[in-house]
Amino acid sequence: MEQLFEALITDFIRDKVGIAEHFLSPELAFHLKENLITAFAENKFHEAGTGNSAAVHQDQNNRSDSIYWLDRSHNNAFEHEFFKLMDAFVLFLNTTCYTGITDYEFHYTLYEKGSFYKKHFDQFRNNDCRQYSMIMYLNTNWQKTDGGELCIYQEKAQQRISPENGKLVFFKSNELLHEVLKTNVPRMSITGWLKTG
Ligand code: OGA
Ligand code: NI
Repeated sequence: MEQLFEALITDFIRDKVGIAEHFLSPELAFHLKENLITAFAENKFHEAGTGNSAAVHQDQNNRSDSIYWLDRSHNNAFEHEFFKLMDAFVLFLNTTCYTGITDYEFHYTLYEKGSFYKKHFDQFRNNDCRQYSMIMYLNTNWQKTDGGELCIYQEKAQQRISPENGKLVFFKSNELLHEVLKTNVPRMSITGWLKTG
């Protein structure tokens, strides 16, 4: 695991974006995707907003995904396994990079066919505790024609990342402008933030 984390951080330091192709094992990704599908069928998802809770505004022009928060109180074995992995990753980050992460939050995300998320930064204007963004994809057999790439805009380059099963994308929340292109098939992921204070 340490090797995986180290490779990811090396990428991140060099490119401002760290990508790990197999961050979630196929088994864990499979079960988290099952959780997502079940929770969606049980109407637990809600439309994602574009502000924090003090200033949430649902803006279907900006984004059209829906979300459901992971929570230890669900007592779900696979969510527990996921949180264990995140605890190990945060410990690694805090010891090797002195990041001082004290908390995190993650939600399941579903982009139904035709959904997107226009260009944005992840840090709220009136709240700077989101330090690092993490997105992990749960889509098997992703095809080029499926759309739904994550586009990251940097000064000199634009990067397109396909949302393939088990892949993690990691970047600093206030630093990189990014967008999710319109997806032509349902697009599933776990999205979250490592936080301070
Ligand atoms: C977000 C986001 C990217 C993705 O939820 O803020 O930018 O690839 N997600 O799902
Ligand atoms: Ni984002």
